[in-house]
Amino acid sequence: MKRPITVLLCCVVNACATGAASAPDAELDSAVVRDATTMDQSNASDVIIASDAPDDRIAVDSGVAEVTWYEHIRPIVRYHCTSCHRVGEVGPFALDSYDTVQPRARSVLGAVESRQMPPWMPMAGCSSFQHNRSLSDAQIALIRRWVTEGTARGDPARAAMDPMPMVVPFRTDMRLTMAAPYAPNFNASATMADDYRCFVLSRSMPRTVWVTGYDIEPGVRAMVHHANVHAIPAASAAGLTSDPRGYSCFGGAGLSNSRMVGVWVPGTPPAKYPENTGIQINAGEAVVVQMHYYRFTAGGAAPPPDQSSVLLELSPVAPARLAQLVGPGADAFSVPPRTMGYAVNGTWTVPTRGTLWGVLPHMHKIGRRISVRIGDTCAVDIPQWDFHWQQAYFYSYNGGIPVAAGTRTFVTCEYDNTSSVAVRQGEGSDEEMCGAPFYYTPE
Ligand code: HEC
Repeated sequence: MKRPITVLLCCVVNACATGAASAPDAELDSAVVRDATTMDQSNASDVIIASDAPDDRIAVDSGVAEVTWYEHIRPIVRYHCTSCHRVGEVGPFALDSYDTVQPRARSVLGAVESRQMPPWMPMAGCSSFQHNRSLSDAQIALIRRWVTEGTARGDPARAAMDPMPMVVPFRTDMRLTMAAPYAPNFNASATMADDYRCFVLSRSMPRTVWVTGYDIEPGVRAMVHHANVHAIPAASAAGLTSDPRGYSCFGGAGLSNSRMVGVWVPGTPPAKYPENTGIQINAGEAVVVQMHYYRFTAGGAAPPPDQSSVLLELSPVAPARLAQLVGPGADAFSVPPRTMGYAVNGTWTVPTRGTLWGVLPHMHKIGRRISVRIGDTCAVDIPQWDFHWQQAYFYSYNGGIPVAAGTRTFVTCEYDNTSSVAVRQGEGSDEEMCGAPFYYTPE
């Protein structure tokens, strides 16, 4: 059965959501129709997004006589930019056609040359991750030529075929929706333009479940920048607010014993945990989503209310290997006032032989750099931290990284404190954290 184009367009971004499709763009429409012929469209939750595999990167011949939109630039933009830069998405403007990209050519070039865009923090050459959004040097060189040589449109008849999109099939077994719509308050804090808020999605899970994948269906896509899912032990769940408007929170769910179940940022496909692994949420535990509402700029209008959903893919039985999010972190530190590049370290020793599949580096706003090692191996290195774009990084090695009991892992966090007061470790927005939990399965 053929799906309507608007639904497909919406799938190009993160997940098929209702009401998020923008006005159809003629260029994209034709591209999507072409994809539709080569893909199994039976699963309504399929997501089309660029893959990180090197052979899926657009082959670039830097010696081409003329660089044109249709032949060279459009496929790059479609795969690396439109997941966020479409009407209604988190990007501040659309970049989805010649007419939207050409007038911004200079700033596009600046953003890709500085590697500010697409947002992708891990430094190249240290591990290899799934869904790497970054552009290759050759792609940036091509954009540079296109912009400096006059942004030629070229001939639509010679448009490059898009590379095969990667399809992440996702099955929603459980949908947890915010109890009521919430209109973010962007003026709540003098120091922050954004609203960080936690909502109780389930006060008590009716049964034990094993999460093997998750996704977010943002209510207002243009406003939702982050959505992290946490499980709260039953003993603490009783103390959670029953206010449908949730509670203010920042670095986590606001409880020291909460466990991370998943993190989401815009422009990523649904998360699927490695095969035969999953995260257990026990019967009676609460589920909380931490939302980061990003400043809403649509013409200065009041922010619309958001009512997002968390979608969980579950395993009917306990997966062969249960995952924990554990790793090195630093506790009880304090970054002295007016100090740049202040470093703290943490270590974690692998208790039982097992596998590290991915890592979730975490700091707050004054973090500058975070680097993580497994023994002598570079696990992830983020030289220019940006709190807004933090996410979990899963290794593109199918088998993960096998580790022996006793393997030591390390995290180093560096901070720039330009203020006149010390910044202490803690979950608050004016406090700092340093941690790098791994997605770890003991054998
Ligand atoms: C994962 C989402 C995402 C992707 C992918 C992405 N962007 Fe962005 N982009 C954003 C957001 C959000 C902003 C607003 C940034 C801010 O306000 O700091 C932005 C801002 C920009 C800006 C304005 C920068 C400035 O100087 O303020 C440009 C230009 C841009 N993006 C170009 C691109 C291009 C070109 C690509 C693809 C090669 C791309 N973006 C991919 C989310 C994204």
